[in-house]
Amino acid sequence: MTKINDNPAKRVMITGANRGIGLELTRQSAAMGYEVIACCRTPMEATELMALALENELVSILGLDVRVERDIKPIAAGFGRRLDLLVCNAGVLGGRGGLQDPEQDSHNIEDTLMTNVGGVFFTARHFLPHLLAGSEERGDAPGRLAIISSQMGSSTRCGSNAIMYRASKAAATNLARSLAVELADHNIAVGAYHPGWVQTEMGGKEAAVTPADSAGGLLRRFAALSMETSGVFEDYTGVAIPF
Ligand SMILES: NC(=O)c1ccc[n+]([C@@H]2O[C@H](COP(=O)([O-])OP(=O)(O)OC[C@H]3O[C@@H](n4cnc5c(N)ncnc54)[C@H](OP(=O)(O)O)[C@@H]3O)[C@@H](O)[C@H]2O)c1
Repeated sequence: MTKINDNPAKRVMITGANRGIGLELTRQSAAMGYEVIACCRTPMEATELMALALENELVSILGLDVRVERDIKPIAAGFGRRLDLLVCNAGVLGGRGGLQDPEQDSHNIEDTLMTNVGGVFFTARHFLPHLLAGSEERGDAPGRLAIISSQMGSSTRCGSNAIMYRASKAAATNLARSLAVELADHNIAVGAYHPGWVQTEMGGKEAAVTPADSAGGLLRRFAALSMETSGVFEDYTGVAIPF
């Protein structure tokens, strides 16, 4: 397992941390000795996360709906801590079908695009100063921005189910690539990650990978992210995904 000593990222912020992959990333990051700011949109309902925060002083909870920039801005402005790793994990699936799926309505499409693309952008925009602020403490090591995308956003591996989710994840991966270019001169490395098909509310019970295996693999990939590999799109085991 990657240890804190192998990895200069000591303070981590994770969005969508109240369940699924985000909760497991929080649990494992704290077990590795990271200080974790676990974000979720309704902290009062986040019972598992609250229990984790109560038993582990490294975990603190921050209310954050990634779609709502007018709220994110003041929250970020009042957030007084430096960050080493920012994980944009919050995501929604929206409609599961294709062109004729009535679930693909304007409400679901707006939610999918605003959460999976706009949410990544707003989170990165307003917490970038905190990543940059950590640079002195980190020395040569980069700040890291990890975007949880999906291989369903790969145009090489396209399919016709969850068509707007696919489009949103293609955009999220594209955003990661653009941010890798924009932040290259600031010693901030950016990666896009496919977490596997994971047993969560989104992935379902039949999924192939446990949240623990996915989160463990992702944390190893985040630790391996460097300025040389910035812009990478890979899965939780380190296998490159075609765009
Ligand atoms: N599971 C898979 O097989 C799989 C595969 C590929 C990629 N992914 C990606 O992995 C990430 C995590 O997915 P998961 O499987 O853990 O899904 P999940 O169990 O459905 O969890 C999604 C998380 O995102 C949060 N979220 C949704 N909308 C939000 C918003 N507007 N603001 C803040 N948080 C919000 C949810 O919070 P609430 O409880 O408040 O809704 C929840 O914590 C997502 O980006 C997903 O697209 C998952």
